[in-house]
Amino acid sequence: MRVALYQNNPIFGETEKNVISVLAAVENEAFDLLVIPELFATGYQFKNRQELKSLADQVGDGYTFNRLKDLARYKQALIVYGFPERDNDYLYNSALAIAPDGHYHLYRKTHLFDTEKNVFDPGDTGFKVFQYRKYRIGMMICFDWRFPESARRLALDGAQIICHPSNLVLPHCPDAMITRALENNVFTITCDRVGSESHSGTKLTFIGKSRIIGPDGRILGELGDTETAFLAAGIDPQLADNKSITPHNEIFADRRPEYY
Ligand code: ACM
Repeated sequence: MRVALYQNNPIFGETEKNVISVLAAVENEAFDLLVIPELFATGYQFKNRQELKSLADQVGDGYTFNRLKDLARYKQALIVYGFPERDNDYLYNSALAIAPDGHYHLYRKTHLFDTEKNVFDPGDTGFKVFQYRKYRIGMMICFDWRFPESARRLALDGAQIICHPSNLVLPHCPDAMITRALENNVFTITCDRVGSESHSGTKLTFIGKSRIIGPDGRILGELGDTETAFLAAGIDPQLADNKSITPHNEIFADRRPEYY
């Protein structure tokens, strides 16, 4: 299976331009699964809920969804991306996985970061694993990395690959994801963005450093901190099913939750 990501640098509020630039960048690339960053088409820093609502989409609707649904069909690939979601009066920082037949799975960010709390509602989907072809996939978004329970929940529920759309501003995540992959024996795909935003006053710089990591903690591919680029790796997701690390240790069977 060939998994991939595209590290972008969106212009705040220019949804169509941002979507088109990602589509152009991956058009001639081959992949079975593509991860694109958190809020990749709108930008990150919303001034208030009203502005966020004006850029948010309902699930299964809108320009971004329709173009990525076409991409999933055209590439016969699973596309995972982050977007601002509007559901009646609620606004979520969400991720969607769209399959080639148009079916999709939704995740709403559980752990909101810093001023995201001023504009988004906390996600209420929980961490769910879904089947895609013969693979089991889970999603988490950016700051969820800081809570080991996020990846653990997905791994305990059988995820082989954790897709992790991100907009990272703190420096530690790329290295922490080595531990998330290793402690759960899963593949992780962290797709970050680059560039800066000062849209709501405070300047934020996004650190890039997107990474694909294997269940043994090995970095299978990584990007720099300023480039916009495509990255891919060939993986065997079934390697994530074997939780045995010595003849006498199986990392999930050896857990002793009664002492935790
Ligand atoms: C983040 O969760 N976007 C830092």
